[in-house]
Amino acid sequence: MRLSDEEKAMRDGDQGAAVAKAMDLLIRYGEALGAESLVETRNVCGTVTATTPFMRDFALAQGGLDAVFSEFNLDSAEVVQVPKVRAFSSHLQLGFDPHHPVEMGLSEQIVEFYKKSEASAAKMGVQILNTCTPYQVGNVPTRGEHCAWMESSAVVYVNSALGARTNAEGRESTSAAMLTCRIPNWGYHLDAPRLGTHAVELDIEVDTVEDWGLLGYWIGDWVQDRVPVVRGVGRVPNLPKLKHFGAAASSSGGVEMYHLVGVTPEANSWEQAFGANRPIETRRYGARERAATRARINAMGSDREVDYVMLGCPHYTIEQIWEATQLIEGRKVHANSALWIWTPRAIKALADRNGYTAIIEAAGGKIMTDSCSAMSRAVPPGTKVVALDSAKQAHYLPAILGVQAWFGSTAQCIDAACSGRWSGA
Ligand code: F3S
Repeated sequence: MRLSDEEKAMRDGDQGAAVAKAMDLLIRYGEALGAESLVETRNVCGTVTATTPFMRDFALAQGGLDAVFSEFNLDSAEVVQVPKVRAFSSHLQLGFDPHHPVEMGLSEQIVEFYKKSEASAAKMGVQILNTCTPYQVGNVPTRGEHCAWMESSAVVYVNSALGARTNAEGRESTSAAMLTCRIPNWGYHLDAPRLGTHAVELDIEVDTVEDWGLLGYWIGDWVQDRVPVVRGVGRVPNLPKLKHFGAAASSSGGVEMYHLVGVTPEANSWEQAFGANRPIETRRYGARERAATRARINAMGSDREVDYVMLGCPHYTIEQIWEATQLIEGRKVHANSALWIWTPRAIKALADRNGYTAIIEAAGGKIMTDSCSAMSRAVPPGTKVVALDSAKQAHYLPAILGVQAWFGSTAQCIDAACSGRWSGA
């Protein structure tokens, strides 16, 4: 791999042992990928904090959080002192919501250990955003900006909706990038892999959040990890719709980049979206495809008594919370059901100030932060049947927890929470 003088100096320890370990990790990782160089990044999203009982025991045995960071973030058995980050760095979601320990089944010791770890990450200079949607709470990369982000739903949003550049990174590579401002220069950092490979012609209006989730799920299932180009979009989708679209496409498949002709920044035209490529295959998406996709996602549902309604995958925007309050104000969550809405901490603070949290809680629901049911594996006790407005969560939750899942609109989900029954398709 070609290295600049600055990179060689970092590798050779000029900036301390932790930066040398980070550079060594990036060089090994980049060479395994076939990257010829590293690219500078000043925007990193990853996971730094320690959250598991195993990590707590490791920290106790090995002498603290530097030992955990060395082992789990830098792949180093040697314990190095961890410096402040050099790149603007944001923390992604956790495996639990530390503010709801009872619901999460968390011991007091783990919450205390996490709090120490969070304080240590903040001291390093990491922004404690704790969300899968950093782009809605202060970290909005610009077009062409090279980033190093984890979390598939965020990666596809950043590449496609914002035109910034990242691959789906891991805990170790993002930690190394935080310390060095470097990441291997391959994949979606380069021009050619960003060009379209498969073409979708829309025969129907795709408008609601549910519609966009269904289209994303159908596309991901078909193209897997290639780059779809969609033509025929009518009303321009807003942030929540693109969020649900990308999240669905990256869960039924592994889509990390898409183009919507006339909407997304690298697809002013069909020709621009494909560049030198010709579509490998073209498919049409109409009412039949949409109905079949809905039936496929809902194949995991059979019992109509709903125990739990989960909203907020990816984490809800303030607009979505506002919509939920409009749907539920003056109603009550059914005695046999529960409603948990997941959102970033920063948006929860706004929901508190706007009075939305009070409305949700008066109805019997809860606003949760930092995680989700798939990540935390936590649902209300006895949950067997779940209702969701997220195709991504409907894809994962039955596989992770063995529950039945119904997927539909937000209004159908709120109705299910209040009636205790799924009345959708
Ligand atoms: Fe976020 Fe959990 Fe969905 S981390 S994207 S809410 S699976």
